[in-house]
Amino acid sequence: MIRLDNISKQHGQQLLFVDASAALHRGEKVGLVGPNGAGKSTLFRMVMREELPDEGQVSIDRGVTVGYFSQDVGEMQGKSAVA
Ligand SMILES: Nc1ncnc2c1ncn2[C@@H]1O[C@H](COP(=O)(O)OP(=O)(O)OP(=O)(O)O)[C@@H](O)[C@H]1O
Ligand SMILES: [Mg+2]
Repeated sequence: MIRLDNISKQHGQQLLFVDASAALHRGEKVGLVGPNGAGKSTLFRMVMREELPDEGQVSIDRGVTVGYFSQDVGEMQGKSAVA
């Protein structure tokens, strides 16, 4: 399980999350939609621990593997998503 508990996150003056919570259980398939700049990538970076929330906690159960593709294609340019 991946859990966000009472997350708050701000980038500059922009409030992205205020006291936000969510849980993703094993076997669930979930999509995250929102306008450009809403904070979707920021949420994934917090799950990847590339960024910390200002408040709250992200917890990932032991033994869970997280695969993540940055939307900034960068070093994966021209390569297949499936090995
Ligand atoms: N490192 C940073 N420093 C300052 N502001 C940032 C930083 N990263 C993102 N932001 C700002 O935070 C907001 C959310 O960005 P984020 O990339 O999470 O949005 P997004 O929902 O993934 O957008 P998109 O649909 O365009 O991918 C945007 O306004 C962005 O400009
Ligand atoms: Mg994004």
